[in-house]
Parts: sequence; structure tokens; C-alpha cells
Amino acid sequence: MIPGPTRNARVPSASPTLEGARVNLRAATAADATALREISFYDGVAATSEDEVRAHLQRITADQARGETVHWAIEDTRSARLAGTVGFYRGFPGGVGEIGYVLRPAYRGRGLMTEAVGLAVAYGFEVLGLRAVVAHTDAANRTSIAVLERCGFALVAVEGAQRTYERR
Ligand SMILES: CC(C)(COP(=O)(O)OP(=O)(O)OC[C@H]1O[C@@H](n2cnc3c(N)ncnc32)[C@H](O)[C@@H]1OP(=O)(O)O)[C@@H](O)C(=O)NCCC(=O)NCCS
Repeated sequence: MIPGPTRNARVPSASPTLEGARVNLRAATAADATALREISFYDGVAATSEDEVRAHLQRITADQARGETVHWAIEDTRSARLAGTVGFYRGFPGGVGEIGYVLRPAYRGRGLMTEAVGLAVAYGFEVLGLRAVVAHTDAANRTSIAVLERCGFALVAVEGAQRTYERR
């Protein structure tokens, strides 16, 4: 099957703020570089300096301008600090969004990502008009799988150690 176009015409150039009870999702900016230093990845490669974080953000911004990404910073409403990131990455082939997420270690274990993924998924269906959302994770990544299960994703594919979860 030939996948559909990977760009989504409804992707905004600047990620909108989405308000939740314990987290808000908002656009990430270069001013977040210090907080993002421990969790900034692009194409699976970790940033090793704040300059690399800023370079990652520039690449993500370019991907978003092409309609292939929506990237948010997750703000902990209790402290107003940056807790992590969540978004849709690597295009939208056939109207399917691929979600990715990471929390700074100090913000784990409180349910913040469960709420953040819920907000992003709702935006994906209601605003981007997605047909489905998928997530790829490792079988050993129990906390990630728990987030997906709490957010209503179901296991749809197993390939080696990789697990693909989907929500429609
Ligand atoms: C995957 C990852 C985001 C999960 O973080 P997390 O803190 O476990 O997820 P949540 O923020 O949803 O928190 C869930 C925990 O908070 C608890 N919790 C407390 N209040 C909660 C609430 N209201 N709702 C949901 N969970 C709540 C849950 O019981 C759970 O704790 P437990 O693991 O002791 O059972 C984090 O481990 C991470 O960033 N890992 C590295 C990056 C990564 O692997 N990303 C995924 C790649 S596919």
C-alpha cells in the first residue's frame, strides 16, 4: 500500500497552548534550552549541549513548518516549570500521527505524561483530523507502555523487541 502524504495541512506553525489540570502544553522556545538539555532527542540522537538542544529545536521548527510535526513543551502547572515534551513526529502518512514523549526524571511518577498524551491525542483527532495515533516503544519500557494503556492505546504489532500501540 502506498502511504498517503506525510504533511498535514492543519498543522499550525506555532503549537497552540492546551490547558489541562496538572499540565499545560505550549510551544517550546530557545529559552527552554537549559531545561530541555537532559531530554532533547532528534532522530534518536541525544543532545550533549545547549547549542545542540537549540539545533534540535530549529530542526523540529522546520519540520513543523512543513506540516510534518507538532511539538509541545509540557509545563507542570504546580511549579510552572518545564516537565518534558510531547508531540507528533515523522509526518502523518495516511492520516496517522506518531506520538513521542519524554519527561525530565524529576517529574516522573505523578501522572503528568498520562495527562499530556491525552491532551495531544485529543488535539490530533479533533484539530488535525487524524485517523489514528500510533506509538513505538520497547517491550522493556514498562512505564511508557503503562502511559499508552492508560490513554486507551492497544497493542497492534510486535517486531523483535519493538511494540507498536495504536489508538483510533
Ligand atoms: C515514559 C515516561 C514518560 C513515563 O513517565 P511516568 O512518570 O511513568 O508517566 P506518568 O507521568 O503518566 O506517571 C505515571 C505514574 O504516576 C502515577 N500517578 C499518580 N497520579 C496519577 C494520575 N492522576 N494519573 C495517572 N498516573 C498517576 C501512576 O501510578 C504511575 O506511577 P507508577 O509508575 O508508580 O505506577 C518516562 O518514563 C520517560 O520520560 N521515559 C524516557 C523516555 C521514554 O521512554 N519515552 C517513551 C518512548 S516510546
